Amino acid sequence: MAHSVKVFLTPDEMAQNFATILIKDLDRVEPDHFYTIALSGGSTPLQLFRYLSEEYAERISWEKLLVFWGDERCVPPDDDDSNYRMAYENLLQNVPIPDANIFRIRGEDDPATEARQYSELVSSVVPFYNGTPQFDLLLLGLGNDGHTASIFPQSISLFNSPRLFDVALKPQNNQKRITATGRIINNASKVWFMVTGKEKAGIISHIIEQRSGFEKYPASLVNPSSGHLVWMLDREAAGNLKSL
Ligand code: 6PG
Repeated sequence: MAHSVKVFLTPDEMAQNFATILIKDLDRVEPDHFYTIALSGGSTPLQLFRYLSEEYAERISWEKLLVFWGDERCVPPDDDDSNYRMAYENLLQNVPIPDANIFRIRGEDDPATEARQYSELVSSVVPFYNGTPQFDLLLLGLGNDGHTASIFPQSISLFNSPRLFDVALKPQNNQKRITATGRIINNASKVWFMVTGKEKAGIISHIIEQRSGFEKYPASLVNPSSGHLVWMLDREAAGNLKSL
């Protein structure tokens, strides 16, 4: 797994780095072209979203961004569990991004139908590379059980689904999810894990240092063919890494 690891003193420093690189990427977007980003869910991106809202609402060319999600809970968009709601309330409603540039996963719809329809939507909007839609940037989080997006160890075979987006099940509560599969994840131009907090230090070192049994974690299968995989960690999440 070719990757790089960046450790930041604080989540805000990580967000600053994220914004700096995003601005450089957007500056290279040609007129009438867009930059496609797939957001991760969970709580980690919350600090990033709030930082971008407070510090970069006027400093990023938001209109150049097309926003998608790497996964979504099968709940309505106003549900507390909705990844879309979290991103909208903490970022998207606070920055000048056109509504037409936001492509949420319809968590309120039948999961199998929406997995298919979102796959078709992404295929119709996101440029292809290697016969598959290629996000310019795909963000991922990491669960303590080594899941990423909504691919959990109990259903790691989903990573190799022939579909672009598929239906997953969170084992702890049997909540249905829609998730990007390995076809989408490993075809992205850039893949960034964003992981913070000391409770993630164990799983981070297990996967990054490829300790015994690491292959059972879905996150260990993330290996974009572009070669651009970055683990963005705060010091706490990086706390168990030897090679730093
Ligand atoms: C989701 C996410 C999931 C998340 C990890 C980490 O919908 O929950 O996509 O993969 O990134 O579970 O979650 P935290 O950021 O809350 O630790």
